[in-house]
Amino acid sequence: MPGIVIVGAQWGDEGKGKATDQLADRVDYTVRYSGGNNAGHTLVVDGQTYALHLLPSGILNAGTPVIGNGVVIDLDVLFEELDGLGAVGVDTSKLIVSANAHIIAPYHKVLDKVTERFLGKRRIGTTGRGIGPAYSDKVNRLGIRVQDLLDESILRQKVAASLEQKNQVLVKVYNRPAIDPDEVADGLMGHAERLRPMIADVARVLNDALDDQKVVLFEGAQAHHLDIDHGTYPYVTSSSPIAAGACIGSGVSPRRVDRVIGIVKAYTTRVGEGPFPTELLNDDGERLRADGHEFGTTTGRPRRCGWFDAPLVEAATRINGFTDLFVTKLDVLTGWKTIPVCVAYEVNGKRTTHVPMTQTEFHHATPVYEEMDGWAEDISGCREFGDLPAAAQAYVRRLEDLVGARVSGIGVGAEREQTVVVHDLL
Ligand code: GDP
Ligand code: IMO
Ligand code: MG
Repeated sequence: MPGIVIVGAQWGDEGKGKATDQLADRVDYTVRYSGGNNAGHTLVVDGQTYALHLLPSGILNAGTPVIGNGVVIDLDVLFEELDGLGAVGVDTSKLIVSANAHIIAPYHKVLDKVTERFLGKRRIGTTGRGIGPAYSDKVNRLGIRVQDLLDESILRQKVAASLEQKNQVLVKVYNRPAIDPDEVADGLMGHAERLRPMIADVARVLNDALDDQKVVLFEGAQAHHLDIDHGTYPYVTSSSPIAAGACIGSGVSPRRVDRVIGIVKAYTTRVGEGPFPTELLNDDGERLRADGHEFGTTTGRPRRCGWFDAPLVEAATRINGFTDLFVTKLDVLTGWKTIPVCVAYEVNGKRTTHVPMTQTEFHHATPVYEEMDGWAEDISGCREFGDLPAAAQAYVRRLEDLVGARVSGIGVGAEREQTVVVHDLL
């Protein structure tokens, strides 16, 4: 069973890093296929915390870490992250990077920040890492790719071409200084020698590996409802985090994907702007944020918190074809007398168990809650499903029913070992 995709089922930060790490010692390749350093994936191994933004979480294990063509790369961040891991003794020498991945240039970061400021109240609440402008250039065919660093004269021409129009916009629309193309090209070329040995034809490497029955794990970043096509547009990221994105973002056929694991938090969080029907703007939301340490791994922003939203995860289950769910942070719900679960929405006086078709309807969706019994026992030491209190078991079973996929793993703490395995994920 060689191709496995991990996808966030809500709005990000579900615990994809931890779920990837669970499997990573049994896989041969771990592949990031979308997004960039807008992601923040946290792993806690033997008391040591690692926060990865661009590198696949499998870098802590023996397999080969891969950055696919669907990722946008800030080279300063890449090398900072590699140096940081090197300093604590992690061997990062096997990393390979797709020649077709796009580069986040300094002007993408400037544009991300000024466009957000310009949008004012209508801002997206981006991470400010230049993600949207880098993907815009890719689609607009003005992007700089990793392989361009292998040909300095091409790189210089491409940077100049990309900046020609952008400098007009920066100066005339946003009242910002123009950016010098030579300075940008010099900065990028400064990384070329270090990057050169990592550059690979990733699609070929992965297809060969799959032919050899090697296990390839595709580690999604962001999440289903942040997907550019299927998310809560325009409050989304600019790439395709869904399972299908694993094929596009790495160069493998959909026929090679055998298993799709949806990562779901036992409640819901969101960073940035956009609709969030079950959001709690009261003390209950504060309590979830405090108990779950819900502050962004990348930007440190407080995460918006709310109850579990079944229609939201059901939509992700259908579109991604989740074969399994990994429910994280169940331990955070310990201590509530009852736990509301959103089982449907009320939209313009009508009840529906589906995410409505239009954005206007979704903005008007009010959650219909079912109250589940809570539990008081500390569950962080549970390792078998049967160890969980009856109410916690019932909570998990109800999520399965509502969402339509089986739960195969349950997180009961941030540490690697704090996991209940219901069905083996490999
Ligand atoms: P990702 O972006 O999906 O990888 O998730 P993040 O790393 O941004 O956020 C998840 C946070 O929850 C991290 O701080 C993890 O260490 C932590 N975490 C993951 N799984 C669990 C769990 O089952 N219980 C608890 N208490 N924390 C968890
Ligand atoms: P991981 O992989 C949570 C959100 C941002 C913003 C929107 C667009 O850690 O789950 P962008 O900078 O991508 O243009 O911002 O998407 N966002 C995330 N939210 N987790 C993430 O990644 C996110 N990556 C982007 O907060 O609302
Ligand atoms: Mg995160």
